[in-house]
Amino acid sequence: MQLYETITGIRQALDSQRKTGHSIGLVPTMGALHAGHLTLVDASKAQNDLTVCSIFVNPTQFNNPDDLARYPHTLEADCKLLEEAGCDLVFAPSVDEIYPTNPFLKLNFGELETVLEGAFRPGHFNGVGIVVSKLFNIIQPNRAYFGQKDLQQVAVVKRLIRDLGFQLELIRMPIVREDDGLAMSSRNRNLSPAERQEAPVLFQALTQAQDVLRNDGTLETAKTAVEHYLQNHPTFRLEYFEIANADTLQPVEQLQAPGATALCIAAHLGKTRLIDNLIV
Ligand code: PAJ
Repeated sequence: MQLYETITGIRQALDSQRKTGHSIGLVPTMGALHAGHLTLVDASKAQNDLTVCSIFVNPTQFNNPDDLARYPHTLEADCKLLEEAGCDLVFAPSVDEIYPTNPFLKLNFGELETVLEGAFRPGHFNGVGIVVSKLFNIIQPNRAYFGQKDLQQVAVVKRLIRDLGFQLELIRMPIVREDDGLAMSSRNRNLSPAERQEAPVLFQALTQAQDVLRNDGTLETAKTAVEHYLQNHPTFRLEYFEIANADTLQPVEQLQAPGATALCIAAHLGKTRLIDNLIV
């Protein structure tokens, strides 16, 4: 496995591979890798000749400076995991390499900006869109792998691909969870032991809502069930719970076809903000 820190370096390495007709899969990450990230690497390995994993804690997508400051950096351990997973190339650029100057460009994802993460993290998807566009330009992958964990990000990147005409296929991978149901996340490392014990409450709230809907409850009853559940766990501060269309992320009035409704939740546990979702 080769590690590249410069755009020129990784471009040269990939250009020669592309000439021999090798397909390239890209797994964009911010590092602090866990088993969830590694399923993306596995999928890319199965579908492409070469797999590139990028590791870059992208400052432009953090709307909260404390969140950026607390974000874990574990490059050495990440490279070890990627090597074991059989990843071929790692791209881990510095902030100056990606942003020699602050971008003037502003991306607006329309109605996706007005709901869920878009509404609660102003500017977040602009930063995601800019860095993902840069990575697509640098790596020019045939396929790019994204997790359902960030469902709205998938919708944003799909839109980016369509609007800017990137020639690549986006593959969405399911959420990988800990044994107790907690969705794996790099931010889980910031939880205290007590918070970590409490953290599965978020997923439990989603399964409660799913149970209500399975028993023919209304969307309103499902929402109330989630709110009550979290009221009984006051260490959590609920930011939102929404029932949305799984593709457009817009709120729905009634359950969609199977697999097309997403239950989306965000809450603060101490200083850590967690998100999760369940497609029903
Ligand atoms: P990051 O949070 O590191 O996540 C990288 C990719 O791994 C994302 O596509 C995310 O959805 C996926 N992922 C995270 N946790 C997962 C889990 N438990 N199961 C399955 N997949 C999971 O998302 C980002 O980084 C950034 O926004 C990025 C796209 C790299 C742009 O900076």
